[in-house]
Amino acid sequence: MRKIDIFDTTLRDGEQSAGINLNTAEKIEIAKQLERLGVTIIEAGFPASSPGDFEAVNLIAKTVKNSIVTGLARAVKSDIDAVWEAIKVAEQPHVHTFIATSPIHMEYKLKKTPDSVIEQAVEAVKYAKSKFSLVEFSCEDGFRSDRNFLVRIINEAIKAGATTINVPDTVGYASPEEYGALFRYLRENCLGADNVKFSAHCHDDLGMAVANSIAAVQNGADQVECTINGIGERAGNAALEELGVAFHIRNDFYGIETGLNLKEIKRTSQLVSRLTGVVIQPNKAVVGKNAFAHESGIHQDGVLKNPETYEIISPALIGEGDVPLVLGKHSGRAAFRDRAEKMGFELSDEKLNKAFSEFKKLADRKKEVTEDDLVTLLTEQQVSIADVSLFALNSVQVQYGTENIPTATASVITPEGETRTLVSTGSGSVEAIFNTLSQLVDGEVNILDYRVTSVGKGKDALGEAVINLSYNGYSVTGRDAAQDVLEASAKAYLNAINRQLIQQSIRVSEPVL
Ligand code: KIV
Ligand code: ZN
Repeated sequence: MRKIDIFDTTLRDGEQSAGINLNTAEKIEIAKQLERLGVTIIEAGFPASSPGDFEAVNLIAKTVKNSIVTGLARAVKSDIDAVWEAIKVAEQPHVHTFIATSPIHMEYKLKKTPDSVIEQAVEAVKYAKSKFSLVEFSCEDGFRSDRNFLVRIINEAIKAGATTINVPDTVGYASPEEYGALFRYLRENCLGADNVKFSAHCHDDLGMAVANSIAAVQNGADQVECTINGIGERAGNAALEELGVAFHIRNDFYGIETGLNLKEIKRTSQLVSRLTGVVIQPNKAVVGKNAFAHESGIHQDGVLKNPETYEIISPALIGEGDVPLVLGKHSGRAAFRDRAEKMGFELSDEKLNKAFSEFKKLADRKKEVTEDDLVTLLTEQQVSIADVSLFALNSVQVQYGTENIPTATASVITPEGETRTLVSTGSGSVEAIFNTLSQLVDGEVNILDYRVTSVGKGKDALGEAVINLSYNGYSVTGRDAAQDVLEASAKAYLNAINRQLIQQSIRVSEPVL
């Protein structure tokens, strides 16, 4: 069977999209989960873009052993050096360097002639090859580039030492027929094409990213670049879970193997959604919460008689409902640890104890602690950065009545250890809380987006709040869960402020190289 490499760019192209900013601990959690999922390559970030990205790529390269880790670099030496410094510890150092090749990008963005673009690409690939064993060269906006020019630049990149050639549809303009035909043409016309991997990288502006990636594979691409839940710039990238499951379910037609451990799909999707704050649409293929729900009577009847009447994918294939719930309010620490480990969480004793005490509190108040609740509690502990002094919520109290002005009293402990308490009003309870908190944290806060969802089902479900705000001019997302949505909202607000403080301390204290 033909093997296709899965190149995951959730932490680079995905993280680059509006409203997402993951901290280092969260990026490492996602990378570890991608490794469990079995992706071939993890693009961990763009090291030259910020000290935070550099740090994350470096730690991921040190942590991940079973997937190749790469970093993005413009076709300039300093970017390639930044990737090298971050990744040289890895067993198979890989760099992904790119330059734009379409007429519009070369003329208006780069302000360069086609010949000087080739010159810069060759210099960058040669320099990269002097350090890295694996060098991927990307022709940004490749689909809208002139075919003859593409052949010229790819020939030169292969001669200079590139091991992978990526031809992205950067703006999501291609149709499957055209994108497939381009790969066939390049495979047939580039010198040395048989000695390199060809890679597809599709954006979803016209909703065709997955179809285009598959067309490329059918026409000679050996690798697809994609993201979990399809997150990414604008309309996003090709969704990894859709590609992986399509190749598996229609193996009879495609004859393709990806090496993915499909049972990890659900968990990876949920982790990425929780940590990025990007909600999965309910009808999303493969991972949406309605992907396996049968609503109409005729369908339900058919499924009861034989699931295959309407179900082409079984929920178990992607790991849905894989771990049965056995924990209750009488469960002890050992059983809790055992469950956490079975679910793939590796927590220090201190973090596990904290998660256990949160679990006990929840089990006292809630009839049933669900699998989703456990994932929420354990993930919160896993990505919490306890060793930095930050704002903590002491208490929050809200007075609300249809005839009263909503009033919130909040008390926080500041990073300096001081307890501050204030009261404010607002046009609603949430606004009153946010108005109070904005006076308690020094700095200017603007709320950009705010959302509350329930974790699981039932009237006693945990409420999860996600808030996107700007703090002292920087946009940041925070989230937290609690049984009461007002408490979850207050904690999510402080979580956002704390994340910004952490980012700020990295910005100030750590230069890139
Ligand atoms: O979409 C794109 O062209 C990219 C490149 C940097 C590979 O993300
Ligand atoms: Zn892209």
